Amino acid sequence: MQDFLWWRDGVIYQIYPRSFFDTNQNGLGDLAGITAKLNYLANLGVDALWLSPFYPTPDADFGYDISDYADVDARFGSLADFDDLVEASHKKGIRIILDLVLNHTSEQHLWFQTSRRDSTNPKQDWYLWQDHIPNNWESIFGGKAWTFDEQRGQYYYHMFLKEQPDVNWRNPEVRKAQMDVLRFWLERDVDGFRLDVFNLYFKDEQLRSNPKKWGRRAFERQIHLYDGDQPEMESVLKEMRSILDKYPECYAVGETFLATREKILRYNGPEKLHAAFDFEFLWSKYKPKKFLKAIENWESLAKETNLFPNYVLSNHDVPRPATRYGKGEDDARIKIVMALLLTMRGTPFLYYGEEIGMRDISLKYHEIMDPPGKKYYPFNKGRDGCRSPMQWDDSTNAGFSSEKPWLPVHPNYKNRNVAAQQKDKNSIFNFTRQLIALRKKHQTLRRGEIIPLTETPRDLMAYLRKDSDEKILVILNFSKKKKTFTLPKGSWKVLFSEKRKGEFKEEITLLPHEVLLLFKPSNLPTFKPSN
Ligand code: NOJ
Repeated sequence: MQDFLWWRDGVIYQIYPRSFFDTNQNGLGDLAGITAKLNYLANLGVDALWLSPFYPTPDADFGYDISDYADVDARFGSLADFDDLVEASHKKGIRIILDLVLNHTSEQHLWFQTSRRDSTNPKQDWYLWQDHIPNNWESIFGGKAWTFDEQRGQYYYHMFLKEQPDVNWRNPEVRKAQMDVLRFWLERDVDGFRLDVFNLYFKDEQLRSNPKKWGRRAFERQIHLYDGDQPEMESVLKEMRSILDKYPECYAVGETFLATREKILRYNGPEKLHAAFDFEFLWSKYKPKKFLKAIENWESLAKETNLFPNYVLSNHDVPRPATRYGKGEDDARIKIVMALLLTMRGTPFLYYGEEIGMRDISLKYHEIMDPPGKKYYPFNKGRDGCRSPMQWDDSTNAGFSSEKPWLPVHPNYKNRNVAAQQKDKNSIFNFTRQLIALRKKHQTLRRGEIIPLTETPRDLMAYLRKDSDEKILVILNFSKKKKTFTLPKGSWKVLFSEKRKGEFKEEITLLPHEVLLLFKPSNLPTFKPSN
């Protein structure tokens, strides 16, 4: 395909490895499990996999507390399994993106174990140690961000759990060690990284207290001026970029903590990150106006810079779209948001199971694993809901594992699973697969201009995607009622629909929750979905 840059033009699929597929029968998914499912992923049509952490971890934050950056947790396999996965993925043209969590380590990491020993050891200032609590900084997971360590007799800083101490990026040895982590994985042929909360690496050198503001939780009652986003960050991104640029087509996308437009502009660009996540779709209500606002924001940002937008409906930290927007087991609304995601001018990120409309599991207190869930139950039940095992078929444990899975499988798995949906031509799986294929076929859908049509009835969303020789009109009926839409001038032919064929002029009445893609006939053939 001409001019196809994988991270811009492709679809990126996030895998939470411990929940994907278990091949070593320990109730946890593993790397060999991902390799085993590569045919499935290739058939779905994804171009890259972002793997949530699989490194050795004591699981205080389920992998986001790493005790060794350069290895694979034995429960998930070995470095040899990792190499196999990379090789097999590349053979299928699928790229691999790793999740790098370089802001903090696990307290079990050898660096911290050494650092906490005393204040004279060689790693004594690899973390942020203080005799007294120096400021008002709070942990986002609740409570003070400074914890007293009995062994060292000092306080250390952690933005997340006390089991996740923040490293001292101002120490040149730490900085070098973290850059070596990048090199280690690049040498093992990975194609890029997702940088976990990268903009927190540096804190104010004088450790000043954050100014106060109104808010619900203590963390929200501060303006986070000093516990992140320090100017030194830019030079780190430049250094990372210079390392990445030594490898062909390698990429980095940043998870910006408390992202704002200004931060996205500051940290991205030709010498810094390739892409920044934008989470507006994640938080949007099921309303065309809200989604349109997110699109307008991205488009205006992209105009100011060379940034290519990306869109995310789901990840391992938030309730799934089917849970947020769905009604029972009906997928009509899920198809609307899936069509939206896959017809955007911007890289779509899919989260495992989104393609079969997986719903969040609901847990009793004693079943909760996620620390914030344990702490804030029942106001906030944590993030386990969206991390349940992938539903492959209707056999025991949804075909995920022969052993008891680490989190329960959703009880709907008997009907909602990959095997069943592959057979059903109207399933959300086949819908997703067809739209990915259509996106691959039409550069207009990937890169063409996006022009929202604002003169639409309430609950209807319409936009034009336009390239030099193609015009595609996307119409999404968000409502359960029929809606009539006035078509732009000329005759429009169906490019994608589950409900109709033919050519339309002047106006069209959409069925409840209908997804319709039309095109202006030039010499384009009609897209024929393959089952
Ligand atoms: C952001 C990750 O997405 C989240 O899952 C994790 O708990 C925190 N960073 C800490 O690493």
